[in-house]
Amino acid sequence: MKSTIKKCLFPAAGYGTRFLPATKSMPKEMMPIVNKPLIEYGVDEAIAAGIEGMCIVTGRGKHSLMDHFDMNYELEHQIKGTSKENMLVDIRNIIDTAKFTFIRQSEMKGLGHAILTGKELVGDEPFAVVLADDLCINEEQGVLAQMVALYKQFRCSIVAVEEVPADEIHKYGVIAGEMIKDDLYRVDDMVEKPEPGTAPSNLAIIGRYILTPDIFDILENQEPGKGGEIQITDALLKQAQSGCVLAYKFKGRRFDCGSVPGFIEATNYCYDKFYKG
Ligand code: G1P
Repeated sequence: MKSTIKKCLFPAAGYGTRFLPATKSMPKEMMPIVNKPLIEYGVDEAIAAGIEGMCIVTGRGKHSLMDHFDMNYELEHQIKGTSKENMLVDIRNIIDTAKFTFIRQSEMKGLGHAILTGKELVGDEPFAVVLADDLCINEEQGVLAQMVALYKQFRCSIVAVEEVPADEIHKYGVIAGEMIKDDLYRVDDMVEKPEPGTAPSNLAIIGRYILTPDIFDILENQEPGKGGEIQITDALLKQAQSGCVLAYKFKGRRFDCGSVPGFIEATNYCYDKFYKG
């Protein structure tokens, strides 16, 4: 199995119903935390992990995602030589560094199905997955960079996990496993959104994954699970049962920007940390 991760998949076809009406005609991934869309934070994190191939699974009404990661010559012309030009420096660097590919998911059949849709873009190699509405910040080393380093050592699928309070755990995929070293578990059970009171642990899966490409074969044969959707959690459990899946309690802060309180918290945090000063 290759030791380097060169591509990152961004499932971004969802409707973002928790943020209606803002997301009626705007992709939820374009919602800004201060002055930067959520997906750009994810792309920054991938680049910081040494990844250059950004594979985005889009859907209807998501054109602005493509436009955001493309040159806007009219704007470049207008802004050239003005004091505002420096506001485009970061996005220009992204466009110069990363290579973006897009594929449309025509049916919403769950996260596992979205990831399987990305197979055409990823090919037969290990890859990262970022769910952009989980905003992860760690100033020393980004969460994906931490996971890529672990992948180089262990060469198997890895999910990011975080401890969450008992009354929240039913909103997540949950793992159980044996701790093999500090903050690292070998997964032996995994449940997508367990019924209250039945979770196998308090370790919730957060939207960062490293997946080995055999996951695509499993997903192709995966029966619908929770909510009638093809769940990546169910496919990963199969991978864990026949090989190895690790769960990593990452260093850093994570904001659930798919919820209004998490979005506000992330906004205040990023404003204080990166903008105000
Ligand atoms: C998805 C996954 C879930 C995971 C969560 C992290 O759920 O299915 O296992 O815990 O992302 O954000 P969603 O939030 O899309 O319902």
